[in-house]
Amino acid sequence: MRALREVPGRLDVERVRKDFPILRQEVHGNPLVYLDSAATSQKPRAVIEAVSRYYEQDNANVHRGVHLLSERATQAYEAAREKVQRFVNAAHAHEIVFVRGTTEAINLVAQTYGRTRVRSGDEIVITVMEHHSNIVPWQMLCEEKGAVLRVAPMDDTGTLLVDELERLIGSRTRLLALGHVSNALGTIHPVRRIVEMAHRKNVPVLLDGAQAVPHLAVDVQALGCDFYAFSGHKLFGPSGIGVLYGRSELLEEMPPWQGGGDMISSVTFEKTTYNKLPYKFEAGTPDIAGAIGLGAAIDYVRGVGVDAIAAHEHDLLTYATEALREISGLRLIGTAKEKASVLSFLLGDVHPHDIGTVLDREGIAIRTGHHCAQPLMRRLGVAATARASLALYNRREDVDALVAGLHKVREVFA
Ligand code: ALA
Repeated sequence: MRALREVPGRLDVERVRKDFPILRQEVHGNPLVYLDSAATSQKPRAVIEAVSRYYEQDNANVHRGVHLLSERATQAYEAAREKVQRFVNAAHAHEIVFVRGTTEAINLVAQTYGRTRVRSGDEIVITVMEHHSNIVPWQMLCEEKGAVLRVAPMDDTGTLLVDELERLIGSRTRLLALGHVSNALGTIHPVRRIVEMAHRKNVPVLLDGAQAVPHLAVDVQALGCDFYAFSGHKLFGPSGIGVLYGRSELLEEMPPWQGGGDMISSVTFEKTTYNKLPYKFEAGTPDIAGAIGLGAAIDYVRGVGVDAIAAHEHDLLTYATEALREISGLRLIGTAKEKASVLSFLLGDVHPHDIGTVLDREGIAIRTGHHCAQPLMRRLGVAATARASLALYNRREDVDALVAGLHKVREVFA
């Protein structure tokens, strides 16, 4: 892969932008300014081509055929797993389970680990900042088992109250599940410290890394977490593919979730035995092209440099935060010290959907609404926010366009 860094450690954003064909278009007669990468990221040509190449040259089912195409497809699929393993520094490739996305990864843990470990009166601890996908699967489990969901609070800046969280972890806690980075506020939680804290009480930890992997270097062994979930589509890969990392010992003891082809070792009408890891959790034909595309996305991100991306986004976040603070009537929602490149805000009493609609006419794409975090919105006392989220292909001009667009919003609704 060609080097995209002119100077070691610095990201050349104009070169990066050339790799993303979608960014070249106009929207309503204006150049597209894409500020919705927390919802889904755009895809570099390398990913699009990897998926097409697979369908043009190698398409076949995996782990089944003796023919050459099947061998090539299997090899590419398993190579993608190894790329994921190296990307998050998992100890073994079999600790990487391909799933549809973060949501499916969390449901898998709730339905297997959760259903076998959680009994009536036990507790699952989450935080007030979770995405619905890290709330509802636990609520469903608690309802089935008569267990209790405990929720750690935050302060008004969107910083998790870690001491309060620690107090919630008790002898009945069976799992702590929290986001690594909040999708609605951008807060980066001190997850290493939190994992250590939970482990001192023998409580395993699941991290929802959907909003972390596109922005930060993630090392699951250094973090010490037991499960780590993320989605391909937020990491510049295809949609429909995601990852559950789980520590071998836990995955081994967990029962399978979905039954079907590939997850078995042998089947009779009397008894079925299950396949080894990770296949025990991959029933049915997987998203082969998606996994290959995700592997290409990881190659791309590594080619640009994870640290270069983090530094670029940090600069951009600082620039954007200062610029938005200058706009009269604008209130930033989520001002924790440690933040990824997410800016949630309100503008006077203009409804966030109206902000989004006016900006769209200017070619600027942001997300508005509750960001799949209704309990968080309730805690903040708002129904919705406008959210601009930045990625490696954004530049200061995009922030300037957002600021100009917001002045237009003010004019329209003055
Ligand atoms: N979870 C995605 C978001 O935050 C969809 O927008």
